Amino acid sequence: MIAHPLAVPAVHGAQSQCRKASWYDEDWPRQSIHTSRDHQFHADRRRVWSHSFSDKALRSYEPRIEVYNKALMDRLGDHGGQPMNAAKWFNYYSYDVMGDLAFTKDFGLLRSGQQHLAVELLNDALGIQGIKLPTWMFRMLIAIPGLTEKYWRFIQYCDEQLAAQMAQKDTEKPSLMARLLAHAGPNPSKSDLLTLQSDSRTIIVAGSDTTAATLSHIAYLLAKNPEHIVKLRQELLPLMNADGSFEHQKVYQAEHLNAVINEALRLYPVPPTAIVRKTPIQGITVDGTFIPGNINVWTPQYVIARSNDAYDQAYDFIPERWYSMPHLVIEKAGYSPFLTGPYGCIGRPLALMQIRLVIAATVSKFDIGFPPGADGSDFVENTKDRFTWGLAELNLCFRPWQRSTSNHS
Ligand code: HEM
Repeated sequence: MIAHPLAVPAVHGAQSQCRKASWYDEDWPRQSIHTSRDHQFHADRRRVWSHSFSDKALRSYEPRIEVYNKALMDRLGDHGGQPMNAAKWFNYYSYDVMGDLAFTKDFGLLRSGQQHLAVELLNDALGIQGIKLPTWMFRMLIAIPGLTEKYWRFIQYCDEQLAAQMAQKDTEKPSLMARLLAHAGPNPSKSDLLTLQSDSRTIIVAGSDTTAATLSHIAYLLAKNPEHIVKLRQELLPLMNADGSFEHQKVYQAEHLNAVINEALRLYPVPPTAIVRKTPIQGITVDGTFIPGNINVWTPQYVIARSNDAYDQAYDFIPERWYSMPHLVIEKAGYSPFLTGPYGCIGRPLALMQIRLVIAATVSKFDIGFPPGADGSDFVENTKDRFTWGLAELNLCFRPWQRSTSNHS
C-alpha cells in the first residue's frame, strides 16, 4: 500500500505501465470492461462502451433520471422531517436508475420501499469480496457448492436480465446493455456472450453502489456542516426552473455544488482503498523511492485524503479548497476519485449528472439534519470497506424547506 499522493499518477496515470492485478481474475473466464487484464481487449471494450456516455447519450438519460429523482424527493418528503435511513433511499434511487438505464427495467425500489432480490444478492456477493481473500482462495471458496449460493444467484440474475434484453425488440428507450448488444450483433459468440454477461453485472455494481455511497456521504457531510446547505441554495436557486426542477445543463458548472461533490469524494472515495495494480517488471519510482517490479500495489484514496502531504486541514470538510482556497490542496496529483488513465471510470459523467441533480433537488426542498442527540458518528464508524462501501444506517431528518418561509435566503 503506497499512501503517497505522487503514487497515484505513477500507478494509475496515462503513462503508467502498471496493469490490473490478478485480483481482477476472480470471475475468470468471464471478463468485463472492469475485470479484463488484457490491455488490448480492454481498450477495444472501452471504445464500445464509450458510446453510452457521450454528451448525446447523457442528454437522453436525463428525463429518465428525473423520474427517479422526483420519486426520491417524494420518499424523503413522506417522512415529514422524522428520522429515516437516508442511505437506504439513496441506494434504492441509484439501483432504480441503473435498472432503467442498463436494462430499461424499473426495479421499483423507490415505489415499493422494498429491497429488490438482486440488490440483496449483490450485497452478499460484495460482502464476500470485502474479505479481500487472495484470488486463488476466493475462487476456491466460490467453487464450493452451497457456500456462496447468493454470489452465484446474483450472477444468474444479471444473466437473466441480459437474456431479457436480447429478446426485447423495442429500442425506443435505448439501454446501456442494448448498445453493447448491438455491437455484438444478433448472434454473439460464446466468448462475446460471457463478456456481455460480465458487463451487465459491472453496470449494476459499478453504477449503483458507488453513486449511492457518494450521495449518502454528501448528505452526512451537509447535515454536519449545514452552512454549506445555505451556500448551495444561494448558488442553485437562481438556476432552478419555475416548476422547481433542475436541468443538468444549468447546474453542471455550479462552482460550490461541484466543490461539495469533490470534497465528499476526497473524504469518502469509492472504492476507499484497494484498486490493485501490478507493477511492470522494471519497477516504478515514486518520489525517489524504488518500488520493485511484478508486485501488487495500491494507492488508498481514503488514506491519502487524510495526509498532510496532500492537503492542509486534511480532515476537515472545506469544499472551497477546490475553487477559492486552492492553497489547501498541497499535492493535487493525489486526488483521483474516478481514477485517471486507461482504467479510469467511464461512467463519471453519468455519476456526476445524477449526483448534481439529486443534491440540487434535495437542498432546494429540505433542510438536512441529524435526529436529536445524534451526530452521525455511528454511520461513519459502522460503515465498512468491502471494495465499495458497505454503508451503515444513516439516520437523517429531511425537514421540508421553502424559500419564502425560511430565514436562510
Ligand atoms: C460516484 C460514482 C462513481 C465513482 C466514485 C466511481 C469510481 C470508479 C473508480 C475509482 C473506478 C476504477 C476501479 C478499478 O479500476 O477497479 C471505476 C471504474 C469503472 N466505473 Fe465508476 N464510479 C462511479 C460511478 C460509475 C457509474 C454511474 C458507472 C456507470 C455504469 C460506472 C462505471 C464504471 C466502469 C464500467 C468502470 C471500469 C472502467 C475500466 O476498467 O475501464 N461508474 N469507477
